[in-house]
Amino acid sequence: NLQDYGHYMLKEIMEQPEAIKRTLKDRLTESGVVIPEVDDFFAKRKLTDPERIIIVASGTSHHAGMIGKKILETMLDIPVEAAIASEFRCEHGRLDEKTLVIAISQSGETADTISALKEAKKSGAAVIAISNYRKSTLARKSDCVIYTHAGPELAVAATKAYTTQITALVLLSIVLAKKLHGSGEGQIPALLDALHSLADDVEKCLVMTQDAIDQFAQVTNDQEHLFLIGRGLDYVLALEGALKLQEVAYLHADAYAAGEMKHGTMALITPGVPVIALATQEHLRDKAINNIKEVKARDAYVVGITTTGDDEVSAVVDEVLYIPEAHPFLMPVLAAIPLQLLAYYAGIVRGYDVDRPRNLAKSLTVE
Ligand code: F6R
Repeated sequence: NLQDYGHYMLKEIMEQPEAIKRTLKDRLTESGVVIPEVDDFFAKRKLTDPERIIIVASGTSHHAGMIGKKILETMLDIPVEAAIASEFRCEHGRLDEKTLVIAISQSGETADTISALKEAKKSGAAVIAISNYRKSTLARKSDCVIYTHAGPELAVAATKAYTTQITALVLLSIVLAKKLHGSGEGQIPALLDALHSLADDVEKCLVMTQDAIDQFAQVTNDQEHLFLIGRGLDYVLALEGALKLQEVAYLHADAYAAGEMKHGTMALITPGVPVIALATQEHLRDKAINNIKEVKARDAYVVGITTTGDDEVSAVVDEVLYIPEAHPFLMPVLAAIPLQLLAYYAGIVRGYDVDRPRNLAKSLTVE
């Protein structure tokens, strides 16, 4: 209960293993994934062959959507776009009956996301929603809803909403890869294994990183800027980490695709500036290490987040945080844990109301 944690945000961060178990319950079986709602949807809509997928969402849910884009694109052989709902509702490319729209919203009441959904439906596109709330507007207006079952999220900052959304997207990607015979079908056994151990791996991340992150948060107290860098899925995760730090700790945190630093942002790297380098994607590791060396050469203070035992990353950073290794698609769930904890502890050190950050509301019902 709340007394054990002091704040909803910390309580909700700690609840993630349980929340993920609920997202997976009755869907992840010994032999595969079943989402009856998605079966019904395909049966009714006869959408046997979508030509494109557009994921619409706002804020943190958009970041989950960007992760989903990369996963779905790899699993299926269909172009997938991750659109910011408020932008999409103003301007978008072709939309028709061959388009599958996936709308993601924890609350199911975000006005921008609902407007995007209406826009999509007007053009005949089919809509699958991923939401945490039954009976929400989004759930009611969509053709199919996959509930995340994260439980109530009361802190303004989304934490368990995000990790359960990615979990739901991975489940959906498995179901769609089977239905549409996507080229990612071969990845399914490895993904199933990773999903079976996901809740335990999240628990390990909490234990492995909490104290070190608490200490690093003290270091950020007198800093004005912080950078997060990563490639591929690590870049998307960097965006989410930056948003959390801005929102909860009022710290100017910026995320960059690690390879882009040299095209401008490197000019901002001065001695001692904190940089969080995400290096969780095995196939991008060598390039990530080169990028870390570039910021180290400018004397940044680099904290690396990588998988257990990776001494090549630990050799080039000032501090390393290890997290368990999982399937690359699920690393954004695991590596989100230390970033959420950092935002929380940095907000506390700076003396802010972490559950109710200034100028923000939990559910944004205006466009
Ligand atoms: C950030 C945060 C927001 C929400 C966004 C969308 O921590 O909570 O960025 O993610 O307002 O909210 P939902 O998912 O309810 O549509």
